[in-house]
Amino acid sequence: MKTIVEQLKSAVSATNATYIRAAFAADPNRFSRFSLSLGDLLFDYSKCAVNDRILDGLEALAKAAKVEEKRDAMFRGDVINITEERAVLHTALRNRSNRPILVGGKDVMPDVNAVLEAMGAFADDVRAGALKGATGKKITDVVNIGIGGSDLGPVMATLALAPFHDGPRLHFVSNVDGAHIADTLKLLDPETSLFIVASKTFTTIETMTNAATARAFIAGKLSEAAVGHHFAAVSTALDKVAAFGIDASRVFGFWDWVGGRYSIWSAIGLPLMIAIGSESFGRFLDGGHAIDEHFRTAPVRENIPMLLGLIGFYHRNVLGYPSRAILPYDQRLSRFPAYLQQLDMESNGKAVTLDSKPVEFQTGPVVWGEPGTNGQHAFYQLIHQGTDIIPAEFMIAANGHEKDLRHQHQLVIANCLAQSEALMKGRTLAEAKAQLTSNGMEEAKADKIAPHRVFTGNRPSLTFVYEQLDPFALGRLIALYEHRVFVEGALFNINSFDQWGVELGKELATGLLPVVEGKESAEGHDSSTAGLVAALLKAQG
Ligand code: F6P
Repeated sequence: MKTIVEQLKSAVSATNATYIRAAFAADPNRFSRFSLSLGDLLFDYSKCAVNDRILDGLEALAKAAKVEEKRDAMFRGDVINITEERAVLHTALRNRSNRPILVGGKDVMPDVNAVLEAMGAFADDVRAGALKGATGKKITDVVNIGIGGSDLGPVMATLALAPFHDGPRLHFVSNVDGAHIADTLKLLDPETSLFIVASKTFTTIETMTNAATARAFIAGKLSEAAVGHHFAAVSTALDKVAAFGIDASRVFGFWDWVGGRYSIWSAIGLPLMIAIGSESFGRFLDGGHAIDEHFRTAPVRENIPMLLGLIGFYHRNVLGYPSRAILPYDQRLSRFPAYLQQLDMESNGKAVTLDSKPVEFQTGPVVWGEPGTNGQHAFYQLIHQGTDIIPAEFMIAANGHEKDLRHQHQLVIANCLAQSEALMKGRTLAEAKAQLTSNGMEEAKADKIAPHRVFTGNRPSLTFVYEQLDPFALGRLIALYEHRVFVEGALFNINSFDQWGVELGKELATGLLPVVEGKESAEGHDSSTAGLVAALLKAQG
């Protein structure tokens, strides 16, 4: 692997690969050579620093890292999450072909289908008003209480699919900060509210604390006996759910082979299903499945998630770029960057290989972003002229949902394309100066100002285009990025499916709670922590 990375570095300088602007000038077919289509989905990576030699090297890298073999092991249900001794089978949740998938010799598909059916029946009842609260009123508001993977997916997807939202109002509470639940409860009528407690482990402190507050709200405003009518749960820990007091008929399970950040396809998607209905939810699963089939079967050079992952690795380890920006030109994808942040950074923010050795490469980059055009008026300055190169990943629909505002959608498209063109082309000093002087500026002043108006260009970006943001398109987009994370993890030779890095902070918070409550002394903590505790306690009076 290391040799191939070194060869790639040499190939970059030998072929001037990073001179993307010159590559476009030299090759009128560059777009068709470096873009792929899958149905109405177009993936354009021609504005990245690639050429045939670079792609040959990346393909060799995939072979050396056995990415295809690792992919097949995941789809087969092998125990690839070695530190937690689990299979990784979120793909089974959207396996619309129903092909048997074995875990420990047992086909998981009958259970997957049974939960999907139960979710559908429950969602239909809520949507139709058949499921009533304790006082006989129909449910108008559904509150999902969960955090991380038990929150971000449903929040992001519900926002993204707003035009398909014809069920009750949805609210999401995640933060342990009481402000979050308090502000939400203010909006609710207890008689018409349903709370879904969503937690894979059913132990997460934030979720359990918010669930207890919601329970007290129903018990206080209605009665203790009313609680059962206003709660449902989603979890893999069915014994713990039963102990919380939620009736088994309102509990939707999933399995330890579904990672939290990969769980939107499971019963964790229940709020989304209640919002958009089981048919649209099915289309969402179809979209994920379409990408699975493509990822499973297409050769590396024609495989979109493979290329996306290889280019990600190339940016990080050959070109040395530390972050990437997710820039959807689609307001309804406003939470997609945050969703991908968890997916990518919790999966690939690791420093130990599958053989328990220090990694040989830089692993996951910082993933961040905001929707366009808002970001243009905030942080794009740095992407265009800053000292770090930040690969940009654009996504844009050919059609908006607002037929009567078509002119606004054309503006969105123009802005999206303008940004990637500007990043690639840039503006030379001569061009900057000529522009100033042609606008009447004196030569001497133009010499001074022009350097500030130079754009180096040759800044990489890739673009996804799809017909319209609907459940199928969203499912496809999420699955694409999930598999991209998989490919990069395989190249880094890490386990992308555990998350030990979140544990230490959790443990220390548990230990610090009695200290900040003033029940224990801060002795044994470092002087900064002890000083901060003292200052906070003093301010509390
Ligand atoms: O803190 C990390 C994490 O375990 C995530 O991986 C997960 O999505 C989130 O917490 C919530 O966990 P749970 O669904 O078990 O409440």
